[in-house]
Amino acid sequence: MPALAISENILCVGVQHPDRKMFDCLMPTPFGTSYNSYLISGTQKTALIDTVDPDFFEVFLRKLKNLEIKKIDYIVLLHTEQDHSGSVVQLLKYYPDARLVATSNVIKLMKTHLHISSEQFTVIEEGEVLDLGEHSLVFHKIPFAHWPDNTMAYDKKSGILFSSDLFGSHYASDRVFATDSHEIKDAARAYYAEIMMPFSPQVRKYTEMVVSMAPAMIASAHGPVWNDPSLILKKYLKWTGVQVNKTVVIPYVSMHGSSNVIMERLTWRLARRGVSVLCRNLGADPESLVVQTGHVLNDLVTAAAVVFAIPTVLGGPHPAGAYCAMVVNALRPQTRFIGLVGSYGWGTKIEEIFVSLTSGMKKTHRLETLLFEGLPTEEDLLKVDEYADSLADKILALGEDLL
Ligand code: FEO
Repeated sequence: MPALAISENILCVGVQHPDRKMFDCLMPTPFGTSYNSYLISGTQKTALIDTVDPDFFEVFLRKLKNLEIKKIDYIVLLHTEQDHSGSVVQLLKYYPDARLVATSNVIKLMKTHLHISSEQFTVIEEGEVLDLGEHSLVFHKIPFAHWPDNTMAYDKKSGILFSSDLFGSHYASDRVFATDSHEIKDAARAYYAEIMMPFSPQVRKYTEMVVSMAPAMIASAHGPVWNDPSLILKKYLKWTGVQVNKTVVIPYVSMHGSSNVIMERLTWRLARRGVSVLCRNLGADPESLVVQTGHVLNDLVTAAAVVFAIPTVLGGPHPAGAYCAMVVNALRPQTRFIGLVGSYGWGTKIEEIFVSLTSGMKKTHRLETLLFEGLPTEEDLLKVDEYADSLADKILALGEDLL
């Protein structure tokens, strides 16, 4: 993609990575991603905001050379993670006079992760201004809008907020601006689930702060620029809010059909009570586990409950169910209820291991566990009905302000 202007004197010079399949070896990226870098030409100084993933340095450099960028005064680093800062050492070889600019939080992590000494930086802190002539950047720290060092920069002249990872999406596109397409919103939601959800209370505060700033555009470090910021801000207000949907997510694994029977009965009974159900088969094919776990996380941004339906293997939970439970636990959805149903052949410790794997979900109410020996009987299925009715009652009792 060529460099694209997003405003007068501001170019998007980042690179697209449409073939990227996974991010952080954890999150499927079906739409690829982009590593956004922005070049701001003031009347006095030129600043580059962030670099790109080091694997794409040559493409990035070619882009800067094609634009005949002879001098960069400041390389502003909003975040240390290598997909944004990883090209900086190579870039400095071509722009040796550039001064690195970052907050103390970034500088500390840059020393740890890229071995760049703090002497190479000009420190800017909360509320400080970097004057470029006409354009000037005001900095706001947003710790744990992924890492402890994330920082936003707001350009007063254009009204553009450079938001680092916040409000991003793993979405490669030739178009620089986001549309309100379902696909882009889906990518932004998946990104929220796996990157922002663990820190949703902080992200809520940052979102409210950005709403009050009323930026003209939001230029994130990943994905298209939000030239209508309300599109993404409305979504973040919903995702970080207290309301949930009347939805139960059932991640399930079934080796010989028993857990499948339980999942189907639970689904049927919940649906009869007016509760939506999303079933995610973790073991359908070799790629299911990671892809379906990604869907589970995406579902849990707004779902009221998650019930794992998994069998016992060698005394414990099937490893596919255990993996999904661990990832859910790590990403801390605001889900109100968590439960375990399943089967065993002749003995099981599945419940205690499952409870231990999900011990971080302290704000989530734990439902009674329901396990059956072998293939569930008709009598067992009546217990599944009772379980579903009890869960439906709890969800419906949340009341209108929470649903
Ligand atoms: Fe896109 Fe936290 O780096």
